[in-house]
Amino acid sequence: MADFIKLANVSDIPTNEVRSYDHEGKKIAIYNHNGSFYATTNICTHAYAQLHEGFFDPDDCSIECPLHGARFKVETGAVLVLPAYAPLEVYPVQIDGDDILVSL
Ligand code: FES
Repeated sequence: MADFIKLANVSDIPTNEVRSYDHEGKKIAIYNHNGSFYATTNICTHAYAQLHEGFFDPDDCSIECPLHGARFKVETGAVLVLPAYAPLEVYPVQIDGDDILVSL
């Protein structure tokens, strides 16, 4: 079974916002989509940009890269809009009270 580590508190991430976290050299974005939480790598697969600095669109739960505008589906990491081709790595999330636990 995967190990889950606490990265944040539910109360740290307002509804329909995204925050960045670092853990042992990994950069992780955690999203609050209408009260459901998701985690992906925070680094765009196209070049190098931190996704939490982009636009999180709650209408389709996607993140737009701030550098060249690639869009990814947050739940799956799938590419929605080029120029990125490779999907984002996604991480399982569990909620335990106010704790957000992520399996990296
Ligand atoms: S670095 Fe994200 S689209 Fe280019």
